[in-house]
Amino acid sequence: MKFFADTAEIADIKDLAATGLLDGVTTNPSLIAKSGRNFMEVTKEICDIVDGPVSAEVVALDHETMMKEAEVLRKIADNVCIKVPLTIDGLKTCKALTSDGTMVNVTLCFSGNQALLAAKAGATFVSPFVGRHDDNGVDGMDLIRDIRLIYDNYAFETEILVASVRHVTHVLESARIGADVMTAPPAVIKNLVKHVLTDKGIEGFMADWAKTGQSII
Ligand code: E4P
Repeated sequence: MKFFADTAEIADIKDLAATGLLDGVTTNPSLIAKSGRNFMEVTKEICDIVDGPVSAEVVALDHETMMKEAEVLRKIADNVCIKVPLTIDGLKTCKALTSDGTMVNVTLCFSGNQALLAAKAGATFVSPFVGRHDDNGVDGMDLIRDIRLIYDNYAFETEILVASVRHVTHVLESARIGADVMTAPPAVIKNLVKHVLTDKGIEGFMADWAKTGQSII
C-alpha cells in the first residue's frame, strides 16, 4: 500500500520524505488555507521534495473553468495530480484530462456508485473519505470494502486512495481490505511505528547490553 501525506506543511513533508516511506502528497483548499502559503508556490515546493503524485485541487465548479485551472496546475510539475470533486462537471473534467495523459484524483467520494463513476471516467485515483463517514455514524471502512469489490469485479485500474484518515486503525483496515493508497496527516503516519512492547523491548536490550561492557563500534 502506498503512503501519501495529507498536508501542505513543508517541514512535515521533508521529515517524512527523509524516511524513504513517502509515496506522494495530497492537498485540498482547507490544507492550503491552514498552511498560510501561496497555493502555486507551496505546490511547486512539495513537487520538488516528493517524486510521487502531488494532488492539487481545482476550485471551480464548472467543467470549462476546471479545465482552465487544471491547465495552470499541471504546468507546476510533471508529478502534479489534478484533484476534482465528484460531480458531473468533475467527472467530465476527469475524463478529458486522463484521456490526455494527466493524473486525476476524484475526491469527496462517499458511495460505491460514485466510485464506479470515477473509474468509468478514467480516474487515476478515487478518494473515499472514511473519517467524515465515521463522523456521521456510518462505518467509513464499509465504503472501502464496497469499492474494492466493485473495482475487482470489473478490473478497474483506478486506485483506491483512502482519505480522511483519522487514526492508525483506518490504515490497518485499509491494508487488510487491499486499498491501493492511503493518505493521512503526518501525525497518524508517525504513530504507525509506535508499540509499547517495542519500546519496552529496546529498554530491556539496552539494559542487558550495558551489562556486557562491550561496544560494536
Ligand atoms: C485528502 O485528499 C482529503 O482532502 C482529506 O483526507 C480530507 O480529510 P478530512 O476529512 O480530515 O478533512
